[in-house]
Amino acid sequence: MKTALYLDCCIRARQSRTREVSDAFFSALSGEYHVIRLDLTRENLQPLMGKRFEQRESLIKNGNLSDSCFARAHQFAGADLVIIAAPFWDLSFPALLKLYFEDISVEGITFRETATGHQGLCRGTHLVFLTTRGGLYAPGDPMEQGTPYLAALQKFYGFDSFSCIAADGLDVQGYDGTGALHRACAQAAELAKTL
Ligand SMILES: Cc1cc2nc3c(=O)[nH]c(=O)nc-3n(C[C@H](O)[C@H](O)[C@H](O)COP(=O)(O)O)c2cc1C
Repeated sequence: MKTALYLDCCIRARQSRTREVSDAFFSALSGEYHVIRLDLTRENLQPLMGKRFEQRESLIKNGNLSDSCFARAHQFAGADLVIIAAPFWDLSFPALLKLYFEDISVEGITFRETATGHQGLCRGTHLVFLTTRGGLYAPGDPMEQGTPYLAALQKFYGFDSFSCIAADGLDVQGYDGTGALHRACAQAAELAKTL
């Protein structure tokens, strides 16, 4: 059975429109996936600093990669499919998700540097990003930094492909945000069927 790792960063929980998009995705995902959901609000993620930073650096330097502090990195590296659901906050995504990436970016587990260059070590083929945004953003808008960042992480970690599904304009007065949300849910379900 394949593993789908669901990184749930829908901080507003049941009020979250992004959660609606991810629900549509998982309702259509093949039963051949075993879904592991990480509710990032409950993972006690901490910024890397102080003693924790020093201990982690020392473990990595000495090749002690089986330490329990690397459990999430191993889980991420071993997943066949990774789905991130996060709202658009402050031009990208909530800091909570960045803390997760800090946690799993471990040289020797999710990536490595070799004499010939950088190598992503993750087993996953697809990285999927599901999001909703208050405003409207054309592709490539510099005010939208979430998608380019995650597209770069896809390469950094070694996934084959990256897909982003977004519902825009949900907080724009007079805009049909409900229609945008329905379209994103339909797209998410269609994407799930292809994976
Ligand atoms: C803390 C915070 C920051 C936000 N920052 C932005 C922003 O920079 N640009 C934008 O268009 N919308 C912004 N929004 C609006 C959200 O992107 C929008 O409401 C989104 O649909 C929230 O997703 P959710 O319903 O899953 O929580 C922000 C909302 C919050 C609560």
